[in-house]
Amino acid sequence: MRRACVIGWPVSHSRSPLIHRYWLARYGIDGSYTRVAVRPEEAARFLKNLRAEGYVGCNVTIPHKETACAVAAEVCSAARAAGAANTLWYKGDRLVADNTDSAGFIHNLAAAAPRFDIRGAIVEVLGAGGAARGIVFALLEAGAREIRLFNRTRMRAEAVAAYFGARVNGFDWTRRNTALRDISLLVNTTPVGMPGSDPLGIDVGALDRSCVVADIVYVPILTPLLAAARACGLATVDGLGMLLHQAVPGFERWFGVRPEVTEELRALVERDIEGA
Ligand code: ATR
Repeated sequence: MRRACVIGWPVSHSRSPLIHRYWLARYGIDGSYTRVAVRPEEAARFLKNLRAEGYVGCNVTIPHKETACAVAAEVCSAARAAGAANTLWYKGDRLVADNTDSAGFIHNLAAAAPRFDIRGAIVEVLGAGGAARGIVFALLEAGAREIRLFNRTRMRAEAVAAYFGARVNGFDWTRRNTALRDISLLVNTTPVGMPGSDPLGIDVGALDRSCVVADIVYVPILTPLLAAARACGLATVDGLGMLLHQAVPGFERWFGVRPEVTEELRALVERDIEGA
């Protein structure tokens, strides 16, 4: 039996077991996917011994995403760009770390907004953390023309822009509403929109009617940003879709089947989020 797991501290909130167990059952695979609570000081040792512990790979969640990059023998370009990995597997004897949020974001965008063409697009990204870096990497790979990064701490936006080069520019957070008419995709990578947070303060009514609005927050699934965009008739892309799509590459590596993100799976995870 092939075994995979998700490690984190805490790990009880992770929805990865729900997703991977759904696919294991759907494809009739003799495999398992479990949660393992690993303390920060134990994470490097656990990951170095992953195969000896009986695993073919794993997901890592907070706070182990940087450690995963540090201990892997090979770090894929998306994980290097993000400075964080969420998926590990073995290539022969070598432990490989990837960041599948990047590809997950692009695949979800294609599935949820099929008419949108990222090639040549000008994109506004809110936030400059690890999630933003992974998404900027993916947007550039997919052919975006220009990425404008707005962040509360401007220095961080500028650091990300410096890392990626001429197609990415960093701006002050206070300027996030100044050129909304120019953009064809808006992406929120900050946690703003989760219950209890302040409004994001985006003037959604100023966006072009063809602009697509994406959020990586998935609790709630319909964030205030997405609700406002929908009310203006704009196409929206939610964070739940990204959560489901980021799980695809790991499952394929560990269990040998490229799984499908179905409506049934989406409904299953949606019920879990809404019931929590
Ligand atoms: P992650 O790896 O998930 O991206 P992170 O590195 O903590 O997490 O980054 C969170 C991002 O959300 C940052 O860009 C952060 O802004 P700062 O760089 O100024 O910290 C942004 N963020 C968090 N809370 C915010 C808020 N209330 N308003 C605006 N931006 C916020």
